Amino acid sequence: MNYLHTTHPNNSPASHLIDLQGRHLNYLRLAVTDRCNFRCTYCMPKEGIDLKARDNIMRFQEMEHLLGLFLDLGVTKVRITGGEPFVRKGLPGFLTRINQYKKLETINLTTNAYFLEDTIPLFQMIKSGSINISLDSLKRDVFFKITRRDDFERVWNNIEKILLTDLNVKLNMVVLKGVNDNEIIDFAMLAKKNKVEVRFIEQMPFNGGLFPNEIHTAEEIICTLQNSFPEMIEHQKMSSTARIFDIPGFKGKIGIIAGHSRTFCSTCSRLRITPDGTFKTCLYDYGAINLKDMLRLGKSDQEIKAAIRDAVTKRAKDGFESEQRTQQIIHFSKNHLSMAQIGG
Ligand code: GTP
Ligand code: 5AD
Ligand code: SF4
Repeated sequence: MNYLHTTHPNNSPASHLIDLQGRHLNYLRLAVTDRCNFRCTYCMPKEGIDLKARDNIMRFQEMEHLLGLFLDLGVTKVRITGGEPFVRKGLPGFLTRINQYKKLETINLTTNAYFLEDTIPLFQMIKSGSINISLDSLKRDVFFKITRRDDFERVWNNIEKILLTDLNVKLNMVVLKGVNDNEIIDFAMLAKKNKVEVRFIEQMPFNGGLFPNEIHTAEEIICTLQNSFPEMIEHQKMSSTARIFDIPGFKGKIGIIAGHSRTFCSTCSRLRITPDGTFKTCLYDYGAINLKDMLRLGKSDQEIKAAIRDAVTKRAKDGFESEQRTQQIIHFSKNHLSMAQIGG
């Protein structure tokens, strides 16, 4: 047998998903719902978004089937997102079931922490990677202004509880000009006593409405931090989305995510499935195919895998190219996309 034909140039098995730029796609972000109990201003308007009819949302059984196919195609990590994943009934059972999948190495999750208290024991049982928590203010009134829900105390109590465990926790703060940008240093200080990665995120144009003219950029965030922590040093190792910094004497780390400047596309290993089953090879793309529809039409596993492969070969080289292609189909400002519909 000629083994040369069974591997890609970078020694990955031929079955694995590798795009034309040579990026190995082994990380799947699976959005289990478009519903959320909060109404964050940077994610959706106060009246919420046009929710998909329940029948148009993937069933858990469908997600399990699709995840199995992606594992065959070389995916090893999954991140569960939403909306808020825990508003989806039956999520703990789903997590327990996918935890049995041998080829799945890590289950990550992104949450607003509202339901966290009841779920910490579950995270301790499964092969959890990082639990990423969205928290945008340490002040009750600002938290309310951003989330439109008066739940700071409950969320903060839950965060304090999870920080006492040995779970790997990351805190995500979307930096909003004139709203919470004066809290950057307070957030960074959370990494002093806690073994947590505090991440500052650039706002992206997925708020279900108009994008602000001015955003707080990753470079500005880094400047603010360097002014207060001149001894801050950048890690050499490239992480997925975040540039990581250490501050001497801090137990945790600082991360900066240039989500809108898109400076990390060249190493992007992420694929996405939105709550309605749309397969996206980039956060900024329009969605190549609908995998749920293929399943419901009775397409075979081979046909679905071939469609996934085909979409991967058409993957844009970066988020700017994806955005450009999307704009040829629709215009963001007219379409009012929300992060809850994409899955973050
Ligand atoms: P890790 O798996 O821990 O690296 O997490 P993550 O940063 O990929 O995921 P998380 O759900 O915590 O997302 C944090 C922020 O990064 C959110 O605002 C996401 O929308 C953004 N983000 C995540 N993945 C991508 C990506 O592929 N491209 C861009 N532009 N932004 C992303
Ligand atoms: N820009 C940047 N980040 C966003 N998130 C949601 N909407 C936006 C946006 N418009 C973040 C959430 C969460 C992650 C999945 O995405 O805060 O941490
Ligand atoms: Fe990957 Fe697209 Fe995000 Fe760039 S913008 S990192 S290509 S998902």
